Amino acid sequence: MTEYEAEIRHLRSDDVDRVLRFFAALGPESRTTFAPHAFDAENAARICRTSDGIDNVRLVAVEDGEIVGYCYFESRDLPYPTVGLGIADHAQNRGLGHRLMTALIAEARRLGKPGLDLTVWKTNPRAQRVYTAAGFRFTGETPNRVEFTMHLDLSEPADA
Ligand SMILES: CC(C)(COP(=O)(O)OP(=O)(O)OC[C@H]1O[C@@H](n2cnc3c(N)ncnc32)[C@H](O)[C@@H]1OP(=O)(O)O)[C@@H](O)C(=O)NCCC(=O)NCCS
Repeated sequence: MTEYEAEIRHLRSDDVDRVLRFFAALGPESRTTFAPHAFDAENAARICRTSDGIDNVRLVAVEDGEIVGYCYFESRDLPYPTVGLGIADHAQNRGLGHRLMTALIAEARRLGKPGLDLTVWKTNPRAQRVYTAAGFRFTGETPNRVEFTMHLDLSEPADA
């Protein structure tokens, strides 16, 4: 399968309509496994508005002017920023998840984040593959036991 030649860039304030089209193109399975919030206009506007490139870093993969992948970390009131990743159905399994995650981690390192956290459904081996390949390690499970918790330590230099 050929890799996507998508451009990877930060989400911008003028991306709201593109985000809405990306949301609309997510099929039922993707909506279940990638469920950071409702896929509605309010959240499309919110994620564009809060993309600050520092505490809330949101990267998109853009192909032919449309968003085909979205990867972010958000700093909440938690020890580490929390990661999310979703690829449009028609663009899955072509290396975009790997590329977006690599770019996001590079941004986290550049910004001096000490690490990243995420949760992933136990029934989602493809996402787990992308995360372990990027260096995330399994740390436990969520209280409802349906998701694994994972952590990436960024306190050491990349080549240590
Ligand atoms: C999960 C997701 C983010 C991965 O992104 P992607 O662009 O499809 O993934 P990539 O093509 O970069 O890589 C997929 C990897 O998983 C592997 N893989 C695919 N299906 C697999 C399976 N059933 N079991 C194990 N590994 C699998 C591929 O071989 C590839 O690994 P490799 O390149 O090291 O060989 C994307 O498919 C997606 O958005 N899915 C729906 C929403 C979702 O699950 N989001 C994650 C929420 S935690």
